[in-house]
Amino acid sequence: MIDRNKHFLRLMDWSEEKVLETIEIASRLKAEVHAGKVSDRLHGQNIAMFFEKPSLRTITTFQVGMNQLGGHAVLLSPDSIGLGKRESVKDVARCLSRWVNAIVVRCFKQQLVEELAEYGSIPVVNALTDDYHPCQAIAFAQMINESLGGFKNADGKPKTVAFIGDGNNVANSFLALAAKVGMNFTLACPKGFEQPAKVVEEAEAGLKKHGCQYRVFHDPKEAVKDADILYSDVWVSMGQEGEKATKQSHFLPFQINDELLKLAPSHCKVSHCLPAHRGEEITDSVMDNLDVNMSFEEAENRLHAHKAVLWQVMTPFNK
Ligand code: CP
Ligand code: NVA
Repeated sequence: MIDRNKHFLRLMDWSEEKVLETIEIASRLKAEVHAGKVSDRLHGQNIAMFFEKPSLRTITTFQVGMNQLGGHAVLLSPDSIGLGKRESVKDVARCLSRWVNAIVVRCFKQQLVEELAEYGSIPVVNALTDDYHPCQAIAFAQMINESLGGFKNADGKPKTVAFIGDGNNVANSFLALAAKVGMNFTLACPKGFEQPAKVVEEAEAGLKKHGCQYRVFHDPKEAVKDADILYSDVWVSMGQEGEKATKQSHFLPFQINDELLKLAPSHCKVSHCLPAHRGEEITDSVMDNLDVNMSFEEAENRLHAHKAVLWQVMTPFNK
């Protein structure tokens, strides 16, 4: 049985308090770096990382983050490990557990991170699977807290996030985030591209507790009307390249552009997990409007969010 609190496999696995604490730690660590301070909280600690899918932000920020905390990250090549081919997942998990203090993995199947957690004795961090991207959700939450004044508006009502696009891994972790911190979550997607029912069901209790709503629209114009932040992600996620033509035809109306933004409240901001496919899910004009586009604040936060996640999972291990 996996101790889901020990790992960071899905955002939904952590308590509301732990999610909020992680966001706070991330902000603190960011402030330290901005003040020119060096921290060595993970001095002498090591992580192993392997990525079955491409990455700019996640690889860089986990490596730099470990460095900033006084530790070290080893980046393994998935081809060289041959997980499940050259060697079983169980055996890789058991070996890594004897050398390093945590494993950070980006892979296709959620099942793989779960298996590593089951058979290893060290914490496993999900750096994106087909189903979830919990690290992105922490950086997004940190951006809302720091740059948009918190999860509630000045009138005390919860903020509304309108995710324009696929009901994908990022959307799943953001819905879980909304349930933890108390925000309304709206998905605007073509019919047939909604989030899995299980993900929605798991978020229901948290949303209800905070008096928040989950809504799905098939017309993006309806979805943006009361949004405080519009969110965008690629229409075709890594690993779905074979579905590109079909997906693109369905998603054409689900683009964040100046016309759509005009239909949102005037204070509404935009963010994107990046990489952005400019001209598809978001236009150049919105991407380059840095008064509105918060994507680079969020990208900066990835560094500190990852340090906070590592701090949370590796500190108990050190005790
Ligand atoms: N958003 C994100 O995870 O970026 P990378 O794929 O570049 O790591
Ligand atoms: N949904 C995207 C997120 C990229 C960070 C993907 O999985 O490719």
